[in-house]
Amino acid sequence: MEITLKINGSEKKLSVEPRTLLVHAIRDAGLTGTHIGCDSSSCGVCTVVLDGKTAVKSCTMFAVQAEGHEITTIEGMAQGGQLHPLQQAFHDQHGLQCGYCTPGMIMAAHVLLQHNPNPTEEEIRFGLSGNLCRCTGYQNIVKAVQQAAEMLRQPSSAAADD
Ligand code: FES
Ligand code: FES
Repeated sequence: MEITLKINGSEKKLSVEPRTLLVHAIRDAGLTGTHIGCDSSSCGVCTVVLDGKTAVKSCTMFAVQAEGHEITTIEGMAQGGQLHPLQQAFHDQHGLQCGYCTPGMIMAAHVLLQHNPNPTEEEIRFGLSGNLCRCTGYQNIVKAVQQAAEMLRQPSSAAADD
């Protein structure tokens, strides 16, 4: 069957089966930043943003459920070649090593900061507890989110956020 949804601002028509998981549909559409790290909805490396405000694990949603909705993936974060403050902060603070968890981690952090622009360390750790990382030990991810939060709170960088 064919479904229509918006991905990173562009309308896409995708041909899927009812059982096709959203993560597979996204990756088959060429957006391979969204990863698969488990088969039990626990790792969060498949996290994307639904309708600009909700983080969803795309391995636990069927593609047909996204019909008519807007999905943002990591590929939609940079604007005009300029890194989103979260991407810049993960780079600056060494919040990634293998990079496999990073797309999902950034999408989850993006939603976290929309709901809580000035989170405490504890709130960041709790807010990202659905996202597992094997490499960093999380400490630098927390620092990256703190840096991004600070950047996003400054009026000059508000334009860099979507
Ligand atoms: S792939 Fe692990 S939660 Fe989606
Ligand atoms: S950077 Fe390797 S899993 Fe997080």
